[in-house]
Amino acid sequence: MCKSTGLCGILSLLVAGFAPSYNEWLGSRRLPFVFWSSLMTSALMPTYARLPVAFRRGTGAWLEDTDGRHYLDALSGIAVCGLGHAHPAIAEALNDQARTLIHTSNLYEVPLQEKLGGWLCKLSGLEQVFFANSGAEANEAAIKLARRYGHEKGITRPEIIVADNAFHGRTLGALTATGNSKAQKGFGPLPEGFVRVPYNDAAAIEAAGNKNTVAVLIEPIQGEGGIRIPDNGYLKALRALCDQHGWLLMLDEVQAGIGRTGLWFGHQHEAISADVITVAKALANGVPIGACIAGGPAAGILGPGTHGTTFGGNPLAARAALAVIETIGHDDLLARAATLGERILRGFQDALKGTPGITEIRGRGLMLGIELEAPCPDLVEKALDAGLLINVTAGSVIRLLPPLILTDDEADQLVSTLAPLIDETARTQAGQRPASA
Ligand SMILES: Cc1ncc(COP(=O)(O)O)c(C=O)c1O
Repeated sequence: MCKSTGLCGILSLLVAGFAPSYNEWLGSRRLPFVFWSSLMTSALMPTYARLPVAFRRGTGAWLEDTDGRHYLDALSGIAVCGLGHAHPAIAEALNDQARTLIHTSNLYEVPLQEKLGGWLCKLSGLEQVFFANSGAEANEAAIKLARRYGHEKGITRPEIIVADNAFHGRTLGALTATGNSKAQKGFGPLPEGFVRVPYNDAAAIEAAGNKNTVAVLIEPIQGEGGIRIPDNGYLKALRALCDQHGWLLMLDEVQAGIGRTGLWFGHQHEAISADVITVAKALANGVPIGACIAGGPAAGILGPGTHGTTFGGNPLAARAALAVIETIGHDDLLARAATLGERILRGFQDALKGTPGITEIRGRGLMLGIELEAPCPDLVEKALDAGLLINVTAGSVIRLLPPLILTDDEADQLVSTLAPLIDETARTQAGQRPASA
């Protein structure tokens, strides 16, 4: 556990309390003091509420902290390390590629990027890929593509329909598409051209559409929004609406994509195809990459000079992503994600039967949520103390995104470690004694 931040906070308070006389005393001693205090404080902007733990290595579904303690990772770096940590196929691919060629530039042909693009088209049924470096950037590409699509149709003030509680990233366009006023606060003026509707409500999208509408941007399952799985038929209805009105159906698969739900993409559970799909997170198992995949009316919209990025799809990232896709296919990890997800879901349903204060236990593949009636942020630290990494999102939803390489024993251990903590928390919230007491 890292103690330096807390220690420094206490020292800063003490220093602030004695500030006036202290400043007189400091005089020529100021420079050495600034140097000393810079060693004690973090050099990072405090944009994250970090947990007081740092990891030094990982293997499979396990992480080891700097004190040698082991943790079962049921979060995978927020849906990134789908193949777990230090997977030999990824390590080997990265090692070999680093010794061969890390980066050239998108000024030149990049054969590994071509090969990866071909795979993504094959898996999605779409036609063209733009490579970026993150989920937000993949969504920026999609937003620009949709606006350009509108302009080509003579729509000069294009609008994109987005959903309540959506999460699409933190860059300005993606942040505006994100349905979280707290995340947007203080960053205005935000770009115009986004219309918000409730999630899982196709009629609301139809009602919001107008002559300026160019696209609908939706997560097939909302991740940050609380593992919200829409009703069966929702995506099909959106496909029909988009076809009817000439809107692009753009699906943000940044969290759900690349096998997590038991299929390559979350929307494939409804057997529909999109016009644009964005992916990132698990695509290269932790090497930064993002992709905006387009087909049908969306293909060919972004031509020469319309968009670009220095790193996007460089040989190192593309090689890692190719190794991920090959490993998922070779090890049959789509089916494994589905089976594991059912096992974990059933495990929690059995273990928490009769626990009060639980709204719902839900999931698709390895995208799982346990929703409590009341906020439960403390569960994250309780799980950490018990050697388990989890997340709580949307205030009261325990979010589990374990790696696809989890063993059955590890899946059972996840349930047997976490269920009693949830039971205790939910009962305390409901004013009852925990089951074990
Ligand atoms: C659905 C979705 N879209 C986009 C993003 C943003 O991705 P990134 O953090 O890589 O920019 C996230 C991140 O959590 C996400 O879950």
